[in-house]
Amino acid sequence: MDYKHILEKTYDIASINHYFLIDVKEGKTIYVSNEGGTDALYVLKQGEKIEVAERVKSVTQVKGGKLAYAHEVGKGRELHRVVIYDVERGDRVEVEHDPMRVFNVVFDGEVAVFSGVAEANSLYLVEGGRAEKLADLPSPLSIPSSVQGDLVAGLSQKMDGFSEIFFYDLKGRTLEAYTPSGRCNVTPPLLTEVGVLFASDHEGGDYRLYRMDLERKTLVKIHEGEVEYPFYDYREGKLLFIGKSQGRTRLYVDGTHVGTPEGIVYNAVLDGGRLYITYTNLVTPPSIYSLDRRWRKELGDDRVNLGSVEYHVYLSSNGVKIPAFVVKSASAEIPGPTVVYIHGGPWGEVDDSFHTFVAALALNGYHVIAPNFRGSTGYGEEFRMMNIGDVGGMDMEDIAVALSHFKDLISEAFAVGYSYGGYSTLMQLGKYPELWKAGVAGAPVTDWIDMYELSDAAFKGFIDMLMKGKRELMRERSPITYAEKVKAPVCIIAGQNDSRTPLRPVLRYVERLMNSGKTFEVHILPDAGHVPQTKQEVASILIPMILFLKAHTKSP
Ligand code: 4NP
Repeated sequence: MDYKHILEKTYDIASINHYFLIDVKEGKTIYVSNEGGTDALYVLKQGEKIEVAERVKSVTQVKGGKLAYAHEVGKGRELHRVVIYDVERGDRVEVEHDPMRVFNVVFDGEVAVFSGVAEANSLYLVEGGRAEKLADLPSPLSIPSSVQGDLVAGLSQKMDGFSEIFFYDLKGRTLEAYTPSGRCNVTPPLLTEVGVLFASDHEGGDYRLYRMDLERKTLVKIHEGEVEYPFYDYREGKLLFIGKSQGRTRLYVDGTHVGTPEGIVYNAVLDGGRLYITYTNLVTPPSIYSLDRRWRKELGDDRVNLGSVEYHVYLSSNGVKIPAFVVKSASAEIPGPTVVYIHGGPWGEVDDSFHTFVAALALNGYHVIAPNFRGSTGYGEEFRMMNIGDVGGMDMEDIAVALSHFKDLISEAFAVGYSYGGYSTLMQLGKYPELWKAGVAGAPVTDWIDMYELSDAAFKGFIDMLMKGKRELMRERSPITYAEKVKAPVCIIAGQNDSRTPLRPVLRYVERLMNSGKTFEVHILPDAGHVPQTKQEVASILIPMILFLKAHTKSP
């Protein structure tokens, strides 16, 4: 094995700079990046760069010269504190409250509101430098998404898998639910001068984008024809939104399509009439572009030569259509060693955006197949909700079937995934032991029952929803139940302080492997949480993953 070469290439991927635009205001660019080694919030003005805070989460746009954000204070345990930062003056108010899991902060320039998980998932108001608990939110997975004056709007993920909107009146201290029709899904509502913006699938099938009159609760349809609308904003008198279908996006300004390079645009901002976006695709790290007759890169690293990217749809064993992105590695033959990369979530997807794992695998000579199994986002809510009450069931078939569909590409097959993808990797090795040469599971769910005991209110709610509260199903769909059936060598990588897929059930799974004489290796990352937050942490996941795969590949 050519260690030097492998380590260099893998570290190169872990070292790529990612840029995510937060806002542009009067020439100041506010963005989140890992460029200094740790994910951090920066303000850039006239070439001068200020690092505001490290390990940030949920950063708001600038309103009245200020923004709000939450940042990690618990060594990866996802314990956050909220801060209000004055972008003009550079000073900040650290809001007084117990550190807790903050899913989202919203801010209108005066009022800041956030959701925090302690015994319950509650709404907090920032006032006089302190956070005051207002109310428990309608569900363990509700988030505020907008505030304007006395009104907070947010999204409630209901326990039946559907979602609705909530409004909280800060004056009257009352909570009210709104839904265009009971059994439908909505996206996080945004309070604007022209009404409440959100998308909904209540007309059936795909999402449509709407504007709601707050007083009369009447809806005006703004756009249809895309599967999803992951972003919308009203800015400088213009409506900006992004539509998404088949893993790629289209950008619209006032309903007119504005061409961008192919891939994913996460968000868009107008400053003095100039358009700024965060853009990425599978071979281009997330970068900030502005439009000046042509798109011009403001901040971002070069594209990486991984190979060719293809979009496929194949049929699963019971006829369900499974979309998949495939990267044919520039440095592997056909057929060649192939990784089925299984995304997390399960409410996530591999779309045409930069995925660090996919990049590291393709650059190291593995073809990558990334199936968007049922339960994935991006292909309509019926598809996403198909694995509620069936996680680790037919979604595993969707993944396993990829091997026969792409058999001409594959000389030997490996399973790799992180979080729900790590879970799926272990399920594949246990339920389909003949298919796989080896597998790498990062931060895996190994035992839903043990994990449930260690979870906070939000994640208990999530597990209850995914499993419909069925304990027997939790046991049957846990990798630990299949540990004795595993045949292929396993590599497990887990963070010491992971608060979503905690270490204890992972170690119990490892003990089961050990007691039944399996071949395995385990890497526990000190002081690391569920979401890697530094280039070093990314490297300490990617390097053992690649070295393990190389050790089990016939023709590395
Ligand atoms: P992830 O995986 O969303 O891919 O990070 C999961 C992590 C935790 C839970 C489910 C999936 N959970 O229910 O606690």
